[in-house]
Amino acid sequence: MTSEARDRLFVALDTTDLERAARLARELAGRVGGLKVGKEFFTAHGPDGLRAAVGGEPLFLDLKFHDIPNTVAGAVRAAMRLSPRILNVHASGGRAMMEAARDALREGADDAGVEPPWLVAVTVLTSLDDADLAAVGQQGPAAEQVVRLARLAQDCGLDGVVCGPREIAPLRAACSPDFKLVVPGIRPAWAASGDQKRVMTPKAAVAAGADVIVVGRPITAAEDPLDAAEKIVAELG
Ligand code: C5P
Repeated sequence: MTSEARDRLFVALDTTDLERAARLARELAGRVGGLKVGKEFFTAHGPDGLRAAVGGEPLFLDLKFHDIPNTVAGAVRAAMRLSPRILNVHASGGRAMMEAARDALREGADDAGVEPPWLVAVTVLTSLDDADLAAVGQQGPAAEQVVRLARLAQDCGLDGVVCGPREIAPLRAACSPDFKLVVPGIRPAWAASGDQKRVMTPKAAVAAGADVIVVGRPITAAEDPLDAAEKIVAELG
């Protein structure tokens, strides 16, 4: 993946409406780095719906696998048929699970004849605070758990993590320079923050060290989504 401004922007298609997703994908095709499809759309429409909506655009398949290593490996192998650019798993699935995912990704990409995507880990969901972590028996504070899990992911040979804007600086300090940071929670100055509490502008996130930014509603809910996307790319420029 190059570091051109446009290539850094992935647009989240959070909808169960296949027509709407397909319309957005057509409109944004070639004008952004790629499209992120997650559990909402995928559960509604599956791989065929995904292919129909996204076509050949670069794909971030945001399914956050978390299961026993054998099952995650099978899911990762199957996902290679969709030729994603970015794929993710939960770091809290542990070392054996992440290593199985990494190995399955290489084999699966080879078998499918596609370029291996970035395999990135989700550390601590940003919806969880220190008290939530304590309640599920995870050692906090959340900010330290994020760094602990990111280091483990790096040690397991993963390419990077998904992280909130506030986590960019500590992760840049804790992980190697080529460890990828994929960052949602992005709001341009002209967009409403909505339910995102800790936001950063696209430019600030990239300046802090984000490799890819994930933006949903500021683009998908805009009157003119392509115009909104191009404004963000220009801001990154
Ligand atoms: O619409 P918005 O820009 O808030 O969309 C952000 C996308 O990134 C959504 O798909 C959301 O699920 C995802 N995400 C997030 N915060 C995280 C992890 C993922 O907003 N910590």
